[in-house]
Amino acid sequence: MAFSFFFRDYFVLERLAELIAKDFIGYKDIKIWDAGCALGQEPYTLAILLSEKLGYFTFKKVRIIASDIDEMGEFEKTITQAIYPYQDLARIPQELFQKYFQKISDNQYQIVDEIKNRVVFRKHNLLDFQPVDTGFASIVCKNVLLHFTSEERVRVVEMFYQSMLPRAYLAMEQTQKLPTELADKFALVSTDVNIYRKIV
Ligand SMILES: C[S@@+](CC[C@H](N)C(=O)[O-])C[C@H]1O[C@@H](n2cnc3c(N)ncnc32)[C@H](O)[C@@H]1O
Repeated sequence: MAFSFFFRDYFVLERLAELIAKDFIGYKDIKIWDAGCALGQEPYTLAILLSEKLGYFTFKKVRIIASDIDEMGEFEKTITQAIYPYQDLARIPQELFQKYFQKISDNQYQIVDEIKNRVVFRKHNLLDFQPVDTGFASIVCKNVLLHFTSEERVRVVEMFYQSMLPRAYLAMEQTQKLPTELADKFALVSTDVNIYRKIV
């Protein structure tokens, strides 16, 4: 159930990073929530892509809250340490791998502090319907909502809506459609990616 990998849906996350960079670059803080983050592969991928788009100084304004129900209590340590075995990193483009990972032992690599310091983990159950914070420029929730009932999906996405800034972005997996009950709250950004802009 916690299946994920680095640079999964790279195309969607790269587009999201572009949109965030375009619309929120002037903000004092750029808060992002990755809900259902597994072992951190997705929030760290997004952090790397944002670092590339925003540049060194603006990237320091980014804070990604990576949350998960983490039933076995095993995600916090991995995400906080940001150490991964080489076989988990094979899909990362070489140039980005060289730039953002440092070898710490034979088979173990750690994400550099510049990226690691921008991601914090919170243990959190989406079905409590309480956001981890408010004022998000973007929320990513991919491959999580499919496990919920349609009523739960509506309540979770409604919670996301309430915790987002005006015109903020919500990204879901390609096969996850926005609940029709919330059609007046979000607009699809373009037909090739499942990213929605909050309608104020
Ligand atoms: C398939 S993984 C998706 C990981 C990542 N978002 C991706 O797309 O690669 C689904 C994650 O959702 C988490 N999850 C399931 N139910 C949850 C809940 N009620 N609240 C928060 N996280 C939950 C699981 O623990 C798991 O890590």
